[in-house]
Amino acid sequence: MGFCEVRVFPDAAALSRAAADEFARAACEAVGARHRFSVALAGGSTPKGVYALLAADEESGARRLPWSQTQVFFGDERTVPPDHLDSNFGMARAALLGHVPVPLDNVHRIRAELFPHFAAEVCEAEIRSSLGLRTGDWPRFDLVLLGLGADGHTASLFPGTLALYETVRIVRSNRVPQLNTERVTLTLPALNAAAMVMFLVTGAEKAETLRRVLSDSAPAEALPAQLVRPCDGTLLWLVDEAAASRLEVKA
Ligand code: 6PG
Repeated sequence: MGFCEVRVFPDAAALSRAAADEFARAACEAVGARHRFSVALAGGSTPKGVYALLAADEESGARRLPWSQTQVFFGDERTVPPDHLDSNFGMARAALLGHVPVPLDNVHRIRAELFPHFAAEVCEAEIRSSLGLRTGDWPRFDLVLLGLGADGHTASLFPGTLALYETVRIVRSNRVPQLNTERVTLTLPALNAAAMVMFLVTGAEKAETLRRVLSDSAPAEALPAQLVRPCDGTLLWLVDEAAASRLEVKA
């Protein structure tokens, strides 16, 4: 595995500011080096604050990011239309994408309202063509944002589900019996091919899960987040004090 770092912040606001700064740094560095920034956004509620800060910085002129050279993807999607309250794309559009000058063609939402298996195929084809991947190539996203569920899931990789064993596809549908639903998700090899993965974790209810995920034990399917270990990239955990309350402090 590449480099792994855990940063602890006093609260969710400080964490969001740091994540927005890291996002901006990754965007400028990638565009400076390769004239393109590819990012996979996370769903759930934790990243909303980060997206809102990025949007506010853009609208106030405090910081302008290279949106025309940014390709936006998603880590996962629920099987709902884009204007549904549960849509990860819908949340990202409301908090960020609707406020910044990112070209529509650069936003690659997962069309999970379609038959999920088909949505995954369409999404994978879109990732391949927009990043110019050849057959067998994995995408090297410059940045992947992820959240952590209290059950150890990340993206839509839930404990014990079949997508955890995927070795060929970049995106796949995943039956999630614990929620009695289907999701569409980036797979572990795709996440692990990224240049940087940044987890955002807040709240005391995730403290024990975070402790287990970050423990030195061998990675296990029971805690999918533990299986995210970029092979040749950086793994960054941004956590607030409540979520970090059970971590051992190492000198
Ligand atoms: C989703 C996700 C999921 C999420 C975690 C954490 O679609 O729900 O992408 O993996 O990131 O469940 O969610 P919260 O940030 O809401 O705690």
